[in-house]
Amino acid sequence: KHVAVLMGGVSSERPVSLSSGAACAKVLEDIGYRVSRVDVGHDIAAVLSELKPDVVFNALHGPFGEDGTIQGVLEYLQIPYTHSGVLASALAMDKARAKMVVAAAGVAVAESCLMNRFDIGNEHPMASPYVVKPVREGSSFGVVIVREDQPHPPQVIASADWKYGDEVLVERYIPGRELTCAVMGDRAMDVCEIIPVGHQFYDYDSKYAEGASRHECPAKISPNIYQKIQRMALMAHRAIGCRGVSRSDFRFDDRFSEEGEVIWLEINTQPGMTPTSLVPDIAKAAGISFGELLQWMVEDASC
Ligand code: DAL
Ligand code: MG
Repeated sequence: KHVAVLMGGVSSERPVSLSSGAACAKVLEDIGYRVSRVDVGHDIAAVLSELKPDVVFNALHGPFGEDGTIQGVLEYLQIPYTHSGVLASALAMDKARAKMVVAAAGVAVAESCLMNRFDIGNEHPMASPYVVKPVREGSSFGVVIVREDQPHPPQVIASADWKYGDEVLVERYIPGRELTCAVMGDRAMDVCEIIPVGHQFYDYDSKYAEGASRHECPAKISPNIYQKIQRMALMAHRAIGCRGVSRSDFRFDDRFSEEGEVIWLEINTQPGMTPTSLVPDIAKAAGISFGELLQWMVEDASC
């Protein structure tokens, strides 16, 4: 089979996608596929019409790669592709609307409000601590944590330097442990804990710098919480209508009781596949090699 690996693209997550794409292309080649590496630009439809791959492996992240737009192009060209389709991709990329759908399915989410960044002004939009997130970004780009002792909202959100769109999600800050759970087809995989080393939260640097965070797979939490997180990840995957592999991120606050509070944060329809990413580690913990995971994704691709 001829597989075109789409990578790069035009979002803030371009470097992450180049890393995901390089890792996936190499392993797909090693396991015997004919691979074309495609750095995606605005001429992608013409490039793919010329290449005529059997399958597209989508290693893009962020706007244009993870939000239904490239998926729409692939539908139009009738080329089977990995990961979620148009609707699920568009919905999951929008953190605010994805939350509404997942909450309606019965999954616990953090209290939040959707705002225009210029309406934040000088007063806190909710009691601090809270988090301001761009509605359509990944890899923690633009995430601002407002701590309890900050007298005003941070200036950067309404400033000319802000390049993440005008809609922002203002969300109650959930202290606690950072957990994640991938879904592969119709099955929730292991729950994994992310333990940042020397960072306040799992930001861009701790996601992609070697040794800046540690993944504990499977996470050391009670079997009850473990299964609860797996159920929540599967419910989110189904509610959004995902296909192939997705990864849901959670916060688990166990400061006050062992049962604690589990909050679903977001779903990633194009989870990172870089050497420091979570999904390859989660698969490994389940005895699935990176090659087996990618092969499953390619064979599962459709349009
Ligand atoms: N947005 C990054 C790639 C992730 O979710 O892993
Ligand atoms: Mg994301």
